[in-house]
Amino acid sequence: MSEMTKVAPAVRIAEVSRHAGEEVRIRGWLQNRRHSGKLYFLGVRDGSGTLQCVVSKQDVPEAAFAAAGQATHESAVEVRGVVRVDPRSPSGHELSVNDLAIVSLAQDEFPISNKEHGIEFLLDNRHLWLRSSRQHALLQVRDEVIRTCHDYLGGQGFLLVDTPIFTPAACEGTTTLFEVPYFDQKAYLTQSGQLYNEAAAMAFGRVYCYGPVFRAEKSKTRRHLTEFWMLEPEMAYAELEDAMQLAEGLLVAIVERVLDRRAEQLKVLERDTTPLTRVRSPFPRLHYHEAAAKLQAKGFPFEWGGDFGAPDEAALVEDFDRPLFVHHFPTACKAFYMAPDPTDSRLSLSADLLAPEGYGEIIGGGQRIDRLELLEERLREHQLPRAAFEWYLDLRRYGSVPHAGFGMGIERTVSWLAGIHHVREAIPFPRTIVRLTP
Ligand code: 4AD
Ligand code: MG
Repeated sequence: MSEMTKVAPAVRIAEVSRHAGEEVRIRGWLQNRRHSGKLYFLGVRDGSGTLQCVVSKQDVPEAAFAAAGQATHESAVEVRGVVRVDPRSPSGHELSVNDLAIVSLAQDEFPISNKEHGIEFLLDNRHLWLRSSRQHALLQVRDEVIRTCHDYLGGQGFLLVDTPIFTPAACEGTTTLFEVPYFDQKAYLTQSGQLYNEAAAMAFGRVYCYGPVFRAEKSKTRRHLTEFWMLEPEMAYAELEDAMQLAEGLLVAIVERVLDRRAEQLKVLERDTTPLTRVRSPFPRLHYHEAAAKLQAKGFPFEWGGDFGAPDEAALVEDFDRPLFVHHFPTACKAFYMAPDPTDSRLSLSADLLAPEGYGEIIGGGQRIDRLELLEERLREHQLPRAAFEWYLDLRRYGSVPHAGFGMGIERTVSWLAGIHHVREAIPFPRTIVRLTP
């Protein structure tokens, strides 16, 4: 095959349409093979797409024909041939093969076949499962969501400021902290970049971070990972309302772009896109009081003051055709930094965005406490170690202003958009309470 290298350009399958009638090289993996007399029909995928490659005994060297018969499922193969327009094939093209070589013969048998596999088996083989079309579609949707976040926020003047992963203290409550030895001290894996975002917002006005966050969640639900990715914008001179408007604009942009650019992937995922086409501004809003009353009216055993469980969230959104904001949660349900409602100190200037179709909370955020004394008091109430927060208190000592932001969970957002049941498929290598491998 070394000679092959010289004679034809290597192209990706996604680009073969630009090479109709030309001889090219495809470098990929064998997905499937059919045999009919002196012909082999090879399904070759290269990550950008799948191409049918037709190997005819009379057109190729003997060794190439033998290799076509010998290559096992998922063998790495390099194929040279002429691109032909073929309206019957899914990609609109096929390759008339002139030569073929096995780059690496895969062992028999590839663990993931066309037969039904259990979810734990598939997750144990996640490193191989990533090659399947459904997982491709999911991770392509995820990629589009992340790109849209960067584009949208960048377009609104937000600066990407990365935040640390080793932290000295809790941001979202001490019960879900992962502790790690850190030389002669203890460190924690970050639960959220927010506190550092607040510092960056006082420096740059509008900032965001995007990165992995960690929660030692004891919850074994379809929405909980122990490591997940969060997008967190933060704005200085901003209030709860500003955060809600930004979240709404961002989500509308994400949905529009995924529908536009990932339609093919949504089809592979068999996602009914009708509910997604309804995601437009304005999003409905419910004050916590109204939400609590609604749940009680629906017969739920919900008590004022509590946080919503998954069934509560599903019941709240069922009356709406788009994402729903619930705002002004009781202070007791929320983290130490939430600003109190000036008209009712039991409540906080917070909001959660609940996705339609029962997917639950995908965004959480609000306005932060900007007064030094109140923040000091909250640290005491929450029994947080003052020394680790001294720098955070500085932000209230030097030019404190109202500021607000939110965090969007990427996996929950992707799960909803893709219409999948469990967040574990919305991340390349999921980490849950029971899974640390592969
Ligand atoms: O509501 P949370 O805990 O908010 C924060 O961490 C804030 N500091 C964000 C901010 O204001 N800057 O988490 C935000 C989002 C949730 O709405 C949810 O989408 C996701 O992160 N999330 C999880 N996703 C997967 N697994 C988990 N265990 C999650 N916990 C939260
Ligand atoms: Mg939350």
